[in-house]
Amino acid sequence: MTAKILQDSPEGLDIAAQLLRDGALVALPTETVYGLGADARNDDAVAGIFAAKARPGFNPLIVHVHDIAAAQRLVAWSPEADRLARLFWPGPLTLVLPLRRDAGVSGLVTAGLPTLAVRMPAHPVARRLLQRAGLPVAAPSANRSGQISPTRVDHVCAGLGDRIAAVVDGGPCGVGLESTILGLDGAPTLLRPGAVTRDQIAAALGQPVLHRRDADTLNAPGQLRSHYAPRARVRLNATDWAQGEARLGFGPVDCDLNLSPSGDLDEAATNLFAHLHRLDAQGAAVIAVSPVPHQGMGIAINDRLSRAAAPREG
Ligand code: TXA
Ligand code: MG
Repeated sequence: MTAKILQDSPEGLDIAAQLLRDGALVALPTETVYGLGADARNDDAVAGIFAAKARPGFNPLIVHVHDIAAAQRLVAWSPEADRLARLFWPGPLTLVLPLRRDAGVSGLVTAGLPTLAVRMPAHPVARRLLQRAGLPVAAPSANRSGQISPTRVDHVCAGLGDRIAAVVDGGPCGVGLESTILGLDGAPTLLRPGAVTRDQIAAALGQPVLHRRDADTLNAPGQLRSHYAPRARVRLNATDWAQGEARLGFGPVDCDLNLSPSGDLDEAATNLFAHLHRLDAQGAAVIAVSPVPHQGMGIAINDRLSRAAAPREG
């Protein structure tokens, strides 16, 4: 099988929507990264996601919806969820809420958990496709498990092109890092940092937001330490370069590729995965990365970098 590349046209989106209704795997652009989508209600389709990515079955998936009403049919809604959804949706924020008994979502999506992660993506192509398909779409990032997330169609094709029916071309992803994940099944808890920051969420809720490290680790089943891993080893906080290293810079430094020469954290996030893909393809044994300030979007960037640098599991 070779993935069809579909355009953002009425015909292309009709084909993609029909493939999803038929239980096929379709990669789609979101504002964060490309997702590997399937009908969240269809056991066989969802099983196909786990097989294509070689993803462990205990790692649950995020379900993507077109609007708040569709989310309310899947999870037990709450005043906190409503406040955050009205402020940040559509956008890069995923909410983990109690799964409704009548949600009709495949048990494979939640890995048997009593909660479900839901998100309303902002990318106009994702929104058009979700509306046309008229179903909840389970979609992890469209990379093989443990590898770097895709922010361009060619990343998707390189990793999964022989394993999926189609990919819809929405151009490069703007945000570049996966959504913020917030647990709302108990005290609000940040499970994964992203473009919507912990401070923004705390301000919106008028209460503190716990961090996963302070919380019960069982709440974050999929947070494997080694993740986003290029083939090369990754060396962090490099203030000088060793012979033969691929040099990934930030700010005004001499390097091979720069996340943001002007030191802009949003630009750095947009570039991070694409630059890692490119340097890795050049075959260096080590990718050395400049320090990135630990504030705002820098917290999410450093989270992904530290996972890319973590000792490999298996
Ligand atoms: O930006 C994004 O969120 C992208 C795009 C495609 O939407 N998706 C994405 O999916 O990053 P994925 O599968 O790569 O990451 C989903 C994370 C995993 O770490 C998983 O463990 C966690 O969400 N997750 C899913 N359901 C959960 C739940 N019920 N409780 C806690 N964590 C959950
Ligand atoms: Mg992922």
